[in-house]
Amino acid sequence: MTAPSAPMTQDELKTLVGQAALQYVRPGEVVGVGTGSTVNKFIDALAGMKDQIAGAVSSSEASTQRLQALGITVLDANSVPSLGVYIDGADEIDGQGYMVKGGGAALTREKIVAALARQFVCIADASKLVAALGVFPLPVEVIPMAAGQITRRFADLGGHAQLRLKDGQPLVTDNGQHILDVHGLQITDPLAFESEVNQWPGVVTVGVFAHQKAQVCLLGTADGVRTLTY
Ligand code: 5RP
Repeated sequence: MTAPSAPMTQDELKTLVGQAALQYVRPGEVVGVGTGSTVNKFIDALAGMKDQIAGAVSSSEASTQRLQALGITVLDANSVPSLGVYIDGADEIDGQGYMVKGGGAALTREKIVAALARQFVCIADASKLVAALGVFPLPVEVIPMAAGQITRRFADLGGHAQLRLKDGQPLVTDNGQHILDVHGLQITDPLAFESEVNQWPGVVTVGVFAHQKAQVCLLGTADGVRTLTY
């Protein structure tokens, strides 16, 4: 009798979905590339077909560095009118394809590149699937001088905003701004919530991706990759 195999680790599940995402990359096209540890697995897999694609539009300096190190051409977002597909991870995804993103502080550029794409394919391990958004602290990129008033507005909604730090100092995003992580929110209507918070003065981007939701989620589970479509 053979011993039962050990369950896959979270890292192995990320590798699985990163590789599975290759099926959405069409030869000859430019692909939109997100940010994070799951996307890093996708970038590593994409290197195997770098000669078949026209390049990538990247959502962060970190992804750009990884893409270029693997010999994948990175194009300016302004040089492409649209993308066939954008592939990115998420901190949370619900049953409608709405997501919370920004754990890697790249939410603004992620939303910009996602908005260029006809299809958003989310790659995530099963721990990211939630019944309702709001357990993961919500990242919000803000202009630093507005952080105080934005913090008070979130308090009015029952949320507690904390300035994200790196090495004891405020984290500075690729866009030169700060991140607030908001705890304790209940996001019952993601579309309305995103629209509302996005128009507060000083908010650069809120990490709810409802208007730019996923059309597909490749979810890494103990039974393999589950494909959810929305
Ligand atoms: C970065 C993001 C990431 O997609 C999100 O944080 C998930 O990251 P990981 O794949 O490392 O769990 O939004 O801003």
